Amino acid sequence: MPSKTRVVVVGAGAIAQRRHLIEFKARQDVELLAIVDINAQRARDVAAHFGAPHAMTEFKDALALKPDAVSVCTPNYLHAPQTIAALKAGAHVLCEKPMAISVAETRAMIRAARTARKQLMIAHNQRFVPAHARAREILASRELGKVVAFSTSFAHGGPEGWSVDGEKGFFFKKNEAVLGAMGDLGVHKLDLIRYILGDEVSQIGAAVATLAKPRCGVDDTAFATMAMASGALGQMFAGWIHTSPGATNATIVYCQKGQLHLMDHPDYPLVIRRRGGETAHVTLPKVSNSGVVDAFVDAIRSGRPNPIPGEDGARSLAAVMACMESARTGRFVKPAKIA
Ligand SMILES: NC(=O)c1ccc[n+]([C@@H]2O[C@H](COP(=O)([O-])OP(=O)(O)OC[C@H]3O[C@@H](n4cnc5c(N)ncnc54)[C@H](O)[C@@H]3O)[C@@H](O)[C@H]2O)c1
Repeated sequence: MPSKTRVVVVGAGAIAQRRHLIEFKARQDVELLAIVDINAQRARDVAAHFGAPHAMTEFKDALALKPDAVSVCTPNYLHAPQTIAALKAGAHVLCEKPMAISVAETRAMIRAARTARKQLMIAHNQRFVPAHARAREILASRELGKVVAFSTSFAHGGPEGWSVDGEKGFFFKKNEAVLGAMGDLGVHKLDLIRYILGDEVSQIGAAVATLAKPRCGVDDTAFATMAMASGALGQMFAGWIHTSPGATNATIVYCQKGQLHLMDHPDYPLVIRRRGGETAHVTLPKVSNSGVVDAFVDAIRSGRPNPIPGEDGARSLAAVMACMESARTGRFVKPAKIA
């Protein structure tokens, strides 16, 4: 293992600047090699700010530098082609969510990782939120009995307040984003539910619409109702519809012997309410970053599998695509199987 893992980041927008690059830069065992963005000035500015020697507009030029790893932080429609190109060039890949824009693409990405024998990790950072990681342990221990039902929500004011390109950013463009709030925020929550319950979506029914932002080319409001393989039932809401600052990012899991309340109280991120009335506020570790970059770099440097491989990202994306099919057809849909 070389003393430093040489990393290329493609897409120098909000998620790269605010999370990936800060977290790569914080590691002594990582060297930032190149920043790629179609906006040449942005590539130069971000490379200068984070001390990367190369700023490029063509991804293939960065792959010619033979990086050890690539972080894909571009608009959704580029995730699959850029991930596959990077894997073929011999790099490990950390790919932002949603993993791709179709189930077929996710399968091609998984195949490319297997053929190249390289790591493919999907950046489902909600899994690393301490309340979520602890909830998974509590549910697995069965101290609250079987999961009966859940309700999970993720909503904020919309990506125009986040993207480096504001309202003109890719998020509102149907041909670049393909998926709206369902793919942006819904995929986080469908992945989270799969993760904390250790379960799979068996069938799902959904409705999506563009209600709050008429100029937006994709859905801004998305609801889904689902049955899990275990038999548990649940609902999910994703929306770019907050009219006040802040976000809703709450999950409640109803079990036979009590309820878990995750991230729905400003002071208590994980509350257990047991049958009989006892309430426990669970003490959680403090974290200073998203955990995604550290998990990715640790996996590639140790040679151990990463915690969110392509197969996992693909199952969450398959649930999202089943929602979109359900919204079109008015029927419940079984998500595509990922081998
Ligand atoms: N894990 C999370 O919580 C999280 C949060 C936000 C965004 N994301 C995901 O990260 C990805 C990027 O989102 P963002 O918020 O940074 O968007 P953004 O609009 O802020 O930035 C996108 C960047 O990609 C660049 N770009 C566009 N086409 C390109 C190309 N062909 N080659 C190189 N660069 C190109 C743009 O110029 C821009 O700088 C999206 O898929 C999004 O869903 C994940």
